[in-house]
Amino acid sequence: MGERVEIFEVGPRDGLQNEPQPIEVAQKIALVDQLSDAGFRRIEVGSFVSPKWVPQMAETDKVLATITRTSKTRYAALVPNMIGYGVAVTARVDEIAVFASASEGFSKANVNATIAESMARFRPILDDARHIDLPVRGYVSCVTDCPHDGTVDPGDVARVADQLFAMGCYEISLGDTLGRGTPDSVSRMILAVRDYVPVGRMAGHFHDTNGHALDNVDCALALGVRVFDGAIGGLGGCPYALGATGNVATEDLNAHLVRLGFETGLDQDVLDQVASFAKGLRAA
Ligand code: HMG
Ligand code: MG
Repeated sequence: MGERVEIFEVGPRDGLQNEPQPIEVAQKIALVDQLSDAGFRRIEVGSFVSPKWVPQMAETDKVLATITRTSKTRYAALVPNMIGYGVAVTARVDEIAVFASASEGFSKANVNATIAESMARFRPILDDARHIDLPVRGYVSCVTDCPHDGTVDPGDVARVADQLFAMGCYEISLGDTLGRGTPDSVSRMILAVRDYVPVGRMAGHFHDTNGHALDNVDCALALGVRVFDGAIGGLGGCPYALGATGNVATEDLNAHLVRLGFETGLDQDVLDQVASFAKGLRAA
């Protein structure tokens, strides 16, 4: 059996958050249920952010209340502050993610706060989550390039990753939000973060705007990263990073990893079917 690599499915959140037309909650639930059947251990089903900022995610509590939960899957959601955290816990989320940026320009555009202010918002979340044994993942955005500040220094990524890890995030997902990263810039970034966060606690989150996502996965694999975020059907982007497209498509990522001899525990046939369903949501 090959070495294990995990795909963390983020399509229902990172994918759908960017869709301009409303998508019915029943469709979101159908998407998550089909993803559960594909065998994911972790699925990010939505976010508890301001509905004024991201209207598409406004019904995440209804999604969590209605999906058919399987015991092998953890259902996760993003939270930006204590307001979102409270609603997420009430909605019986299995894990949460906090999200910070390595660049000040994107931090302001995405959460209306400096990096330091966003970290201050996370501290009470991490403190409370520890008391109730709720796992917290941490995202760092703009790990190579920022739409506002340009090229991002790997040292800035390492500092933010270090703070999130020290605060208690069990895994740090390194986000190439714009999809402008290259194997060279991604390698330099991972090597810088590795001084603070063990590679076994990192995840690669590669958007595929320039078609480099699988190349970036390969260079992260070579450096020891074994968790990658994917969005089924290649859905998505970020509403506050104009021009950025979806994450690497989960079905392509899975096929790629299997070709390289890794074991993902996912069913490729189910993935291909769910990808068609997901693409249909976009076209609807
Ligand atoms: P703000 O406007 O500065 O917030 O937004 P505020 O604290 O001044 O509050 C304003 C109003 O929002 C108040 O209501 C609050 O109660 C309400 P009012 O008094 O006006 O009626 N409010 C909330 N309502 C619901 N849920 C909440 C919440 N918080 C405040 N959690 C805020 C600040 C952080 C809320 C806002 O900027 C926000 O929601 N941003 C989220 C943006 C977002 O979701 N971006 C996409 C996800 S990140 C991403 O995609 C990158 C990633 O994929 C990795 C990568 O690719 O790099 C993770
Ligand atoms: Mg993203």
